[in-house]
Amino acid sequence: MPRLITMARPTSSITTFLSALLLLSAGPLVFCRSVPTGDRGDTGPQQTYIVHVRPPAGTVFASSEDRQEWHRSFLPTVGTSSDASQMIYSYGNVISGFAATLSGEELQAMAAKEGFLHANPDRILPLQTTHTAEFLGLQLQDGFVKGSNFGRGVIVGLLDTGVYPDHPSFSDDGMPPPPAKWKGRCDFGASLCNNKLIGARTFVSGSAEGTPPVDDVGHGTHTASTAAGQFVNGAEVLEEALGTAAGMAPRAHLAIYKVCTEGGCMVSDILAAMDTAVEDGVDVLSLSLGGPSRPFYADDLAVGAFGAIEKGVFVSCAAGNSGPLASTLSNDAPWILTVAASTMDRSIRASVKLGNGAVVNGESLYQPKDFPSTPLPLVYAGASAKLGAAFCGNGSLDGLDVNGKAVLCERGGGIARISKGQTVKDAGGAGMILTNQVLDGYSTLADAHVLPASHVGYSDGSAVRTYIATSTNPTASFTFEGTLLGIAPAPTITSFSSRGPSKPSPGILKPDITGPGVSVLAAWPFTVGPPSAGVAGATTFNIISGTSMSTPHLSGIAALLKAANPDWSPAAIKSAIMTTADTLDRSGNPITDERRLQATFFALGSGHVNPTKAVDPGLVYDLTSDDYVPYLCGLNYTSTQVQAITRTSASCATADPIPQWDLNYPSISVILGSASVTVKRTVKNVGAASSIYTVAVHNPQGVSVSVEPPTLQFSTVGEEKSYTVTLSTAGSGEGVSEGQLVWSSGKYKVRSPISVTFH
Ligand SMILES: *[C@@H]1O[C@H](CO)[C@@H](O)[C@H](O)[C@H]1NC(C)=O
Ligand SMILES: *[C@@H]1O[C@H](CO)[C@@H](O)[C@H](O)[C@H]1NC(C)=O
Repeated sequence: MPRLITMARPTSSITTFLSALLLLSAGPLVFCRSVPTGDRGDTGPQQTYIVHVRPPAGTVFASSEDRQEWHRSFLPTVGTSSDASQMIYSYGNVISGFAATLSGEELQAMAAKEGFLHANPDRILPLQTTHTAEFLGLQLQDGFVKGSNFGRGVIVGLLDTGVYPDHPSFSDDGMPPPPAKWKGRCDFGASLCNNKLIGARTFVSGSAEGTPPVDDVGHGTHTASTAAGQFVNGAEVLEEALGTAAGMAPRAHLAIYKVCTEGGCMVSDILAAMDTAVEDGVDVLSLSLGGPSRPFYADDLAVGAFGAIEKGVFVSCAAGNSGPLASTLSNDAPWILTVAASTMDRSIRASVKLGNGAVVNGESLYQPKDFPSTPLPLVYAGASAKLGAAFCGNGSLDGLDVNGKAVLCERGGGIARISKGQTVKDAGGAGMILTNQVLDGYSTLADAHVLPASHVGYSDGSAVRTYIATSTNPTASFTFEGTLLGIAPAPTITSFSSRGPSKPSPGILKPDITGPGVSVLAAWPFTVGPPSAGVAGATTFNIISGTSMSTPHLSGIAALLKAANPDWSPAAIKSAIMTTADTLDRSGNPITDERRLQATFFALGSGHVNPTKAVDPGLVYDLTSDDYVPYLCGLNYTSTQVQAITRTSASCATADPIPQWDLNYPSISVILGSASVTVKRTVKNVGAASSIYTVAVHNPQGVSVSVEPPTLQFSTVGEEKSYTVTLSTAGSGEGVSEGQLVWSSGKYKVRSPISVTFH
């Protein structure tokens, strides 16, 4: 029964007031959202906090109103509080607590109350396909992976910028109705919701209850169609990359939770959406967003994700786009699948011929058909003294004569790549060569530029710069060669993909996995590219890049695995994905990074996802939510901090803390001094009932490894066996050293990378 709760109207004029229509036990209760302000009279500045609380032992709330009532008891008593102190969300499923706007003093008073654990200030987190299915080896006749039937019956929840519901990627041709467990709702109305798009809600600060989650950014439409978009024939962007577009799990259902706008995503909104999605009955949560990593108790997204996995919901999150320097990860809690980004074997080529005859190959999605390949005068704006000119920031070319010329612009400087082209175009330029910074190496991207352009790697860009500096009349001509397949090396880790080691827990190897995240084609709500080039309408696609794009690939693949193995836990699905990942590229060489050097585990994780193998891994490293308690205590978190994550009365005094690397994780990461380290693992047989596995170890350099026992014999499915890995220094080792162990049964190979950091 819906029930209208009336709220006290805040008096502050800058406070937005919404009355909330509450659905009984439908996820979080939604309250007024006030805009934080720096001036609240004598109670000091207010801001929104996520407050974690623990109910008295044995408490069972009869209804979400009861829970809310108890949450309210933490708020300052009416009369003594500032008028705008108020609850925004009361959470019930993935965290125990609420979001409320409070002054520092009010928070302090609250902290003294029985049941208060801690509070984190609300934060804003940034938002971080035709060819993908083929590249990942997905076969139509197998339903993409054996037994998965294209993900039929599985529900993927996306927390993003909403969706453009009219797009053919979201038609429900051939889709069965949602499973009976689905309890969510769709705020687009009956004409747009269907058996593909079964859920659609908005959780954005200031939006009225029931606001349809329309995507006015494009990001959410792209990620949703990547995870579970329909088959759409003839998908292309600007006539490139033509093929049949399909998500990874084209028969899975989509539940859309809009939590982000162009400006980012509030943590309090993300938690409200997670809380609702879990209640609604989603199987997989896909989050292409995230901020810098922090201790897990202070990372509310990680806390919410813990609540989700505890309820059997798989959570896949972007590793971040802050690479290639070390420890730049987001979303690195061990219960989350942390997804890096890599290239495919496709290039949308734009080559540049310099006046000296040299040709450099770059990329651009915009491929003008009629652009003459006559030489254009070529300039490097960075040669002028103007601030920011090297990066072609807005206005930085004013006063320079670039009319009719090609301009060399550098990547980075906080200026978006397509905006650099806009600057050149606005200044009268005819073309742009976009060159990498040294750290970006060879990683190029096919963007929908607004003028003829070519994105080239660092060494090619340096050659162009040298050429400009050393010739009297430098020129460049552009040739657009269209979509090329079979490009090698592929896959490669791209420069922007965030790197490990994990700061909050270096004893867990992160990221976990990589998938396609560079120049990915998927659904888009708007016209793409220069005004003359795009065709408006519902069938628009776009090619964009990010760990935001690799994440929904893995979310869709998790949905396939869930469809094929409905009783697998989130940890088992994750293990299957990780232990079967590819470590070699399509040429049979170790996967490389943006420098064309072998990618480290801190870039690659366990490897490149191989969905066909992941569906049948042989053995899995399983975990229950209780298994994380000794691990969290081993991170030296206090019992209170652990309780905020687990929402139990877990105590580190009785939990028997374990070292981080003893969590039953599918990869191994240890910090090794002079003493040896012994790591324990337990595998569960999910392959043939009767099977014998033997171990093969590739020792990290400078480390000796012994595995006990070296053989594991299983006689039933579901049987578990444990083994230990003892690592000790052997000879000289420094920095980080990498190896692996593989359990082989003949039919199966179950691989765990081993990362050793010497200290
Ligand atoms: C560039 O700056 C001008 C003047 O401030 C502004 O009008 C224009 O919208 C900006 N263009 C872009 C692409 O940001
Ligand atoms: C936890 O504290 C102990 C004792 O101070 C220390 O030896 C250990 O390294 C700490 N562990 C972590 C993960 O910080």
